[in-house]
Amino acid sequence: MQVVTKGYKMSTVTVKDKEFELFIQSQQIASAVSTMAAQMNLELKNSKPLFLAVLNGSFLFAADLLRNIKVECEISFVKLASYQGMATTGNVNQLIGMNEDVKGRTVVILEDIVDTGTTLEKLFVDLESKQVASIKVAALLFKPEAYTGNRKIDYVGIEVPNNFLVGYGLDYDGQGRNLEHIYTLIKK
Ligand code: IMP
Ligand code: MG
Repeated sequence: MQVVTKGYKMSTVTVKDKEFELFIQSQQIASAVSTMAAQMNLELKNSKPLFLAVLNGSFLFAADLLRNIKVECEISFVKLASYQGMATTGNVNQLIGMNEDVKGRTVVILEDIVDTGTTLEKLFVDLESKQVASIKVAALLFKPEAYTGNRKIDYVGIEVPNNFLVGYGLDYDGQGRNLEHIYTLIKK
């Protein structure tokens, strides 16, 4: 990965074979995260929330958010896995890593980005079957133009257009997650 400095700030990066330009600076990310945390600290004061961060993309967001959460809480991490089903069952999506007893808990899903909402819907269905008390969603980034779901996103950091982004946890083909700023694909 190569960072090209244009003028005084890092404005473009090459991740694998594609070029991206600076879109959201780390200071703006930090400010969005702290605003989300402040709202949660007020609203989730008495609910002992279980934060459920969706890997891989949300690892930085979850870490930075949780540093700002001051209410009694727990955090766990999940990964969605698709398996080829047996016989007629087709593909099964399974949550890897959710070992906690979530029954009766307030669960706050932490997503790096909500795009179409497909991932979120799968999580909702799974959590509802486990009889949680309530489900809230916190997404650092939200693409309203791409969203086809009907679940409420309770906490949104930054609304973004329907362009491909990398950095701060978001990847392009496994790379770019370590970038401190968020970059958008340069269309050619
Ligand atoms: P959804 O299921 O369509 O809402 O997509 C959710 C997942 O797709 C996110 O958790 C990301 O891992 C990935 N994703 C969506 N948009 C982007 C993007 O712009 N860059 C990188 N990954 C993305
Ligand atoms: Mg993700």
